Amino acid sequence: MNNQPHVAIVGATGAVGREMLICLSERNFPLSKLTLLASVRSAGQKLTFRGEEITIQELSADSFEEIDIALFSAGGGISEKFGPVAAEAGCVVIDNSSAFRMDPAVPLVVPEINPDAAAIHPRNIIANPNCSTIITLMGLAPLHRAFGLKGIIASTYQAVSGSGAQGIAELENQVQALASGAPIEKQIYPHQIAHNVIPHVDAFQDSGYTKEEQKMLHEGRKILGLPDLKVTCTCVRVPVMRSHSISLTAIFEKDPSVAEAQAVFANSPGIKLVDDPASALYPVPLDTTGQDDCLVGRIRKDQVLPNAIALWVVGDQVKKGAALNAVQIAELL
Ligand code: A2P
Repeated sequence: MNNQPHVAIVGATGAVGREMLICLSERNFPLSKLTLLASVRSAGQKLTFRGEEITIQELSADSFEEIDIALFSAGGGISEKFGPVAAEAGCVVIDNSSAFRMDPAVPLVVPEINPDAAAIHPRNIIANPNCSTIITLMGLAPLHRAFGLKGIIASTYQAVSGSGAQGIAELENQVQALASGAPIEKQIYPHQIAHNVIPHVDAFQDSGYTKEEQKMLHEGRKILGLPDLKVTCTCVRVPVMRSHSISLTAIFEKDPSVAEAQAVFANSPGIKLVDDPASALYPVPLDTTGQDDCLVGRIRKDQVLPNAIALWVVGDQVKKGAALNAVQIAELL
C-alpha cells in the first residue's frame, strides 16, 4: 500500500462518517487526499477536514478509480452494491456494514485482537465488526488470552447512535416533545425510546433471537478464532446517545479470581479498568463518549456458573464501535 494513500469516506455525512473525519484528523492519518462521498442529497455540501473544506460528491460506480482505501459507512445496501465495484477498481474497502462480515474470504478485524487477519484480504474487502461485538470483545479478549473463553451470556444496553443520525434525532426530538407536551413521533423505533428501553435491535429470526444478537455469536467466533464459542445474548436499545454498555457473564477453561481478572487489564491496549465500586467508580456511557478507549469494571465471580466472571464493558459506539476501529484497520494497511 502507498504510504500516503488517497482515502474516501462513503457515507461521509452520517453519524459514523463524520466521526471518521475526526478520527483521521486526530490520529494524523497519513493520507495524500480525502474524498467525501454521500447521496445526491448531500452532493455539493462541504465538510471541513484539517482546516480545509472538502466538497461532498455523489457516490457512483466511477467514484473509486483513484482511491486506495474506501471506508464504507452508508448502510448494507450501499456496501453490497458499491463495495465490490470499489474492490475491483483496486481500492481496499473497509466496510462498516454486515454485508461481508461472515464471508470466509473477508477478514473481520478488531486491531487490538486479531490485527494479523487484516493482511490477507483476497476480495480487497475487510469488514469492521458489529459495534456491540467490538466493545464486548474489547473487554473479553484480554481475559480469553489469560483464561481461555468458553462461553458468554450477554445483555447489551445500546445507544441510539447505532441507528445512525436518524436514531440520534429520534431520541432528541422525543425528549423535546416530552418536555414541551408535544405529541411523540416514531419513525425509527417501534416504540417510544425516550424514557423507555426496547428489547429489539434488528430483525427477529425464527430462533427467537434478533440478527443483532446472533452477530455476537457468529462474529465473536470468527474474530477470536473460537468456532465452538457458546453465546446467548439479549440486545436492548436504551435512551443513551452514543455509548453502548454490555453486561456479561464469561465462562472460562480456568477459574480466574477477581484480582487475576482485573490484573489482565493493566497492559491491554484500548481498554481501561475502572473498578472501585465502594467509591462509585465503574464505567458509565457518558464517560466513554468521544473517547477512544473502552472501559471495564464491576468484575466479580458469577454466582451461578463455575469458572465464570461477571463484568460490565462500555465503549463509544460511534468511535471504537465503528469509525475508530475502521481507521485503525486502515492504519494496519
Ligand atoms: P446522505 O446524508 O446524503 O443521505 P447514518 O447511518 O448516520 O444515517 O448515515 C448514512 C450515510 O449514508 C449518510 O452519509 C448518507 O448520505 C449515506 N447514504 C445513504 N443513502 C445513500 C446513497 N444512496 N448513496 C450514497 N450515500 C448514501
